[in-house]
Amino acid sequence: MSTKPGAGQTALITGASAGIGVDLAACFATGGYDLILAARSENALAEVAERLMKTHGVKVTPIAADLGVPDAGAKLAAEIARRGLTVDVLVNNAGFGQTGAYAETPIAPQLGMVDLNVRVLVELTHIYWKGMLQKKRGGILNVASTAAFQPGPLMSIYYASKAFVLSFTEALWEEARGTGVKVSCLCPGPTESKFHGRAGTDKTRLSKAAKPMTSMAVARKGYEGFLRNRRVVVTGVSNKALIAVTRLTPRSALLRIVRALQSEA
Ligand SMILES: NC(=O)c1ccc[n+]([C@@H]2O[C@H](COP(=O)([O-])OP(=O)(O)OC[C@H]3O[C@@H](n4cnc5c(N)ncnc54)[C@H](OP(=O)(O)O)[C@@H]3O)[C@@H](O)[C@H]2O)c1
Repeated sequence: MSTKPGAGQTALITGASAGIGVDLAACFATGGYDLILAARSENALAEVAERLMKTHGVKVTPIAADLGVPDAGAKLAAEIARRGLTVDVLVNNAGFGQTGAYAETPIAPQLGMVDLNVRVLVELTHIYWKGMLQKKRGGILNVASTAAFQPGPLMSIYYASKAFVLSFTEALWEEARGTGVKVSCLCPGPTESKFHGRAGTDKTRLSKAAKPMTSMAVARKGYEGFLRNRRVVVTGVSNKALIAVTRLTPRSALLRIVRALQSEA
């Protein structure tokens, strides 16, 4: 019998067509988990699925879905059930950001961030959480950001959405204490992926100042932290140091610093 941590379990990973999600999928496949991969890009998902099946010999089911629309979580779960699949581990990774002053940014992407980064994460978690607690196994890995640790002038909704994810995930970690269900919040700092192109953060002082980590290095930390039931996983020494400084900095000063970092260089 396989001694891999994921033997006999299936992980649902959202946002697994690009970036950190693809590498999280590879990490869970290495751990012997069967996978369900969800995102909008059907072809990219199919490629990832084929590669991981060949390399790791696990079962991988790609399901193309827009998760940023109402009832997206319920529809995805219904499709998963229709295919006779179950979810032991839920990785809520799909997300996007958009930079800009709140007054100058249209409402559609602002609400879009709430829908994808928060709403569907809450919905999917609610669908699978009780079953995890009943079975006393599996768990949730939510992807937040170092943005979760302070408000983000000029990227306000993105930062707030990630603060929600961090707060929610830490609360669930406590609710799961002693049950055998694992809960982790992965908080990456700047990471190489398509995120910055979509977010428009390429020109900010933050993006010029910080050296991004690779998406695989970030995914590995998240996966390993999840296996150890680490409540919060901040990636990289400099990101950890920055968060320590954040905690000691008065809020008014912090707001000015973040505003400067989110401004164009
Ligand atoms: N990159 C960074 O610097 C960084 C830092 C901190 C936190 N994060 C967080 O890490 C997570 C992954 O981001 P990433 O850097 O890997 O970005 P990415 O390369 O842009 O990947 C985002 C993933 O989310 C999926 N996605 C986007 N909109 C979707 C929708 N409406 N429905 C379903 N799937 C959708 C994308 O697939 P489709 O386009 O195919 O739908 C893609 O698979 C996000 O939650 C992000 O906030 C990133």
